[in-house]
Amino acid sequence: HKKLKDFPKNFFWGASTSAYQVEGAWDKDGKGPSVIDMAPVVPGTTDFKVTSDHYHHYKQDVALFAELGLKAYRFSIAWTRIFPHGTGEINPLGVAFYNNLINELKAHNIEPIVTIYHFDLPYALQQKGGWSNRDTVDAFAFYCETLFELYGDRVKYWLTINEQNMMILHGDAIGTKSTVAVENPEKDLYQQNHHMLLAQAKAMKSCHEILPHAKIGPAPNISAIYPASSKPEDVLAASNCSAIRNWLYLDMAVYGRYNNIAWSFLEERNATPDIAEGDMEIMASAKPDFIAFNYYSTMTVAASAGDASDRGSTGDQQIVVGEVGVFKGASNPNLSKNAFGWEIDPVGFRNTLRDIYERYALPLIITENGLGAFDKVEEDGSINDDYRIDFLQKHIDQIQLAITDGVDVFGFCPWSAIDLVSTHQGCSKRYGFIHVNRDEFDLKDLKRSKKKSFFWYNALIAKNGAK
Ligand code: BG6
Repeated sequence: HKKLKDFPKNFFWGASTSAYQVEGAWDKDGKGPSVIDMAPVVPGTTDFKVTSDHYHHYKQDVALFAELGLKAYRFSIAWTRIFPHGTGEINPLGVAFYNNLINELKAHNIEPIVTIYHFDLPYALQQKGGWSNRDTVDAFAFYCETLFELYGDRVKYWLTINEQNMMILHGDAIGTKSTVAVENPEKDLYQQNHHMLLAQAKAMKSCHEILPHAKIGPAPNISAIYPASSKPEDVLAASNCSAIRNWLYLDMAVYGRYNNIAWSFLEERNATPDIAEGDMEIMASAKPDFIAFNYYSTMTVAASAGDASDRGSTGDQQIVVGEVGVFKGASNPNLSKNAFGWEIDPVGFRNTLRDIYERYALPLIITENGLGAFDKVEEDGSINDDYRIDFLQKHIDQIQLAITDGVDVFGFCPWSAIDLVSTHQGCSKRYGFIHVNRDEFDLKDLKRSKKKSFFWYNALIAKNGAK
């Protein structure tokens, strides 16, 4: 029994969303299409055209966030609202929307934490090769500078790219992967990755130049990786998986280098990216001020079987997709699962916080963590999501333990502030503190109501996490 340290005084108790999952108004007021808007919709689920219609409800939503007691709100800007074609002509109505949203947040003393790019690459850029095309790096850099100039007087916290590692791994499922046929798909994938890392580095540099008081950092999805057993081969597999799925992204963001294990993995596959002159200097000179990360669960891996079975079946998202010859996904018999088969591991959260802090010693903020569930509205309109409260409380307890371990954590923004549409499992999979009255295909009245977790989180914030 440890004597627990308190949460820091100005801890960012927050909550999270992303533009394409919450805003709707997908083609309103001059917004251009993104890759998400053009991707085929997963059968049986809704599209992203209306979602929670936050675009038209933002005032009401921010008032609810204030009532919830949020100190911070993490949301993303839709690139195609600012630049409908990714670059070129700016869209004043899109600019105005985020001005209004940011002003509304500030008026309620809620700190805006802005994700610059959350999966929704402009379709116009995708048509020119997306992240395979080096020009996208410049388009992103210009988009970032524009945001810093437009909103930097009010926005102090910036996140570069949401879950770049998941885009590289699951881009086809999210709709972000290039569909153009290429000779060596793996090399192309890691070329895209290199371009995104370079784009991120440029964003960090220009943020510091344009806004000396602002802070910026990457926002990957990071999980502690467990070996399936104490067999040395399994332990080695876990180390490989960490290097390729976690540290590849953060090592580059923080130290500006490809780690040796990830690089050797790429060499083995003839998938090392072409690195242009000057790229590595830019990477090395760009520094994040903090690390943001999303955490849902840990990953467990075993030694490679040496054949295609290492990849696992793509239908089973819950088991880590392995890398042939390097590691194979395994399930963890010690963990329970949520209604969608995702493993639940609060202690793994502490492990993850410690792993990241030990490697980088930078302040940490959690930009996503939460429980997707089918919520039930009772006859009296109440929603008793005790399972969500239980999930979040257990994870918050682990943050406090990590803080007690000496990890510097400055915020927690669970997913999601309000119900929205999941990446590929529709809107019946809910995450919010605030319920939105709609079904998968029936938009109903989109009325907002408070779940039981809303009142619980409100009380927790009021006590700064103390019990
Ligand atoms: C993260 C994403 O991967 O997980 C979010 O950044 C996403 O966009 C969240 O919604 C939960 O995943 P899902 O698939 O249940 O929506």
